[in-house]
Amino acid sequence: MDKVVVSVGGSVLIPGNDDAKYIGALANMLKEVSDTVQVAVVVGGGKMSRYYSETAKELGGTLYQLDELGIGITRVNAKLLTVALGDISNSEIPLKAEECARMSAPGKVVVMGGTEPGHTTDAVAAMIAKELKADRIVNASNVDAVYSDDPRKNPDAKRFSKMTIAELKEVVYDDHDAGKSCVFDPLGVRIAMEENIDLFMVNGRDIEELRNAILGNEIKGTFVDSH
Ligand code: UTP
Repeated sequence: MDKVVVSVGGSVLIPGNDDAKYIGALANMLKEVSDTVQVAVVVGGGKMSRYYSETAKELGGTLYQLDELGIGITRVNAKLLTVALGDISNSEIPLKAEECARMSAPGKVVVMGGTEPGHTTDAVAAMIAKELKADRIVNASNVDAVYSDDPRKNPDAKRFSKMTIAELKEVVYDDHDAGKSCVFDPLGVRIAMEENIDLFMVNGRDIEELRNAILGNEIKGTFVDSH
C-alpha cells in the first residue's frame, strides 16, 4: 500500500467560505482513499494564525511567541478535520512528526498541525514523509500549480506542469519574501530532495484533483520529480 502525506494549507481548509461543506467533502474523500493508500495529513493555520501572530506582534511578542501562536492554531485546525473524519482518525493531535508516523496505519487517517517554531506545516509534512518512507507528498494549496514567479504580479511567469525538485528548490529560494506564502517550505523541499520523495502540487479546493494527487494519478497541477 502506498504511503502519502498531505499538507493542507489553512487557506484551503478554513478560508471562511462554506468551510463545513468543504471539510465534510474532504473527509469523505480521505475516508474513501484510505482503503487503497495510507494517508497522514498536516493542516496549516491560514488567516486565523496570521491574525494571532499580527496581534501578538503589535503587543511586542517575540518571533518565537508568534510561531507558538501559529502552531496552536494549526493544531486547532487539525482537530477540526478529525471531527469530520470521525473513527478512522485520531482523538489526540500528535505534537511531533515521529509520533504521527508511529500512529499512522493502513485504513487510518492521522491528522496533525505544527511542531516547533522556525518552519511551517509543509516542513512537518516532509518530516512525516521521511519517517514513513512515504511514496509522495501532496501539497494542497489555493493555487493550481507552481509558477516561476507570482502570476498575479508577473504576467510572464512560467507555469510548470512537471519540474525537477532542483527546479522547485530554485523557485522557493528565489522567493525573498521569506515566510510570506511560499509555494512550499524550503526546509520541506530540502527534506524531500534528500529522501527522494516526489511532490504533487495541487489546488486543494478541487477535491477531484486532490484525490488524483493522493492516488498518484495524472494531475492538472505540478508534478515535482525527486529522482
Ligand atoms: P502554516 O504552516 O500555515 O504557515 O503555519 P504559513 O506560512 O501560513 O503557510 P502557507 O502560506 O499556508 O503555506 C502557520 C504559522 O505557524 C507557525 C509559523 O509561524 C507559521 O507561519 N508554525 C507552524 C511553526 O512555527 N512551526 C510549525 O511546525 C508550524
